[in-house]
Amino acid sequence: MIILGLETSCDDTGVAVFDSQQGLLAHLRASQVEIHQNYGGVVPELAARDHIRKLMPLIEAVLAEAGITKQNLDAVAYTKGPGLSGALLVGASLGRSLAFALDIPAIGVHHMEGHLLSPMLEPDQPTFPFLALLVSGGHTMLVKVDAFSEYELLGQTLDDAVGEAFDKTAKLMGLGYPGGPAISSLAQLGDTTRFDMPRPMTDRPGLNFSFSGLKTHVRTLYQSCANPEKDKADIAAGFQQAVIDTLIIKCKRALKQTGFKQLVIAGGVSANTALREQLAVKLDADVFYPRHDFCTDNGAMIAYAGWLRLEKGFKEELSFDVKPRWPLQELSTAEF
Ligand code: KG4
Ligand code: ZN
Repeated sequence: MIILGLETSCDDTGVAVFDSQQGLLAHLRASQVEIHQNYGGVVPELAARDHIRKLMPLIEAVLAEAGITKQNLDAVAYTKGPGLSGALLVGASLGRSLAFALDIPAIGVHHMEGHLLSPMLEPDQPTFPFLALLVSGGHTMLVKVDAFSEYELLGQTLDDAVGEAFDKTAKLMGLGYPGGPAISSLAQLGDTTRFDMPRPMTDRPGLNFSFSGLKTHVRTLYQSCANPEKDKADIAAGFQQAVIDTLIIKCKRALKQTGFKQLVIAGGVSANTALREQLAVKLDADVFYPRHDFCTDNGAMIAYAGWLRLEKGFKEELSFDVKPRWPLQELSTAEF
């Protein structure tokens, strides 16, 4: 079965072709960083318009790269939610229309399920059950994954997502957008121990997170520095280490609670090299993550998750909607 995957939930237009026999045939992504950079964050209407401009040419390019035509496609998978409604509607309406014209099924995929399954596109794959740490710009979740589509939310952020905390912290230090990669490279030059930073919510039981206090702590610290330019790298390193320590403490707890020995980490923040390295050595578990390219939003994870859903018999009517808000646990009770 050959599936076209479309991802347009936020500021990346991702397209991929996945073949259930041969694996991933091709994938491409168009980033909108240059468009949103000027505003310091994603502007939803501009995001939707750029998806409209880029999506069809990217589909043509991916099909050419895969050496196939539209007629070879067996299904179309698109991101149905969660995400920005205008952006989601671009992928959903084009995906649905294309499938209708080709007389093949189309399936709406949960963006976070895409991230969660993305390590399965790699040669070294986890096997069910496993624990998943999903860390992106909009979500921070610890999920007990018993099987495909059986998800139990163990913990989530009560305020800012990890990626959002990176973005906002970078913005206040004048590091630009997106903040994750900017903080990550600056942190390499800094001393993680010079500034004392909180490890939020680690002193009480439970698996929820909170990152807005840490962000505020950095703002106060940054504004009180006599020479913030000089101290920037140490602040970035201290902030990043506080985030990593917090995530590691919660993962350890969740592994103990579930008894699982495998951890999947996915979503944009999983591209953070320091986080990957420390998770691998500090946890008593095998750690699985997607290749760097598939940590942030991409069409491959959507094509793959779409294939698994179709294979299990999930079907959708011709009419469609998008779900800007969509709890992952709802998938466990979805009908097929
Ligand atoms: O998964 P993703 O591409 O989009 C959402 O689903 O939100 O994640 C984007 C987030 C942004 O907040 C970005 O700053 C963060 O991932 N990110 C990183 C790194 N690369 C991207 N955060 C920390 N370190 C990185 N290297
Ligand atoms: Zn994402």
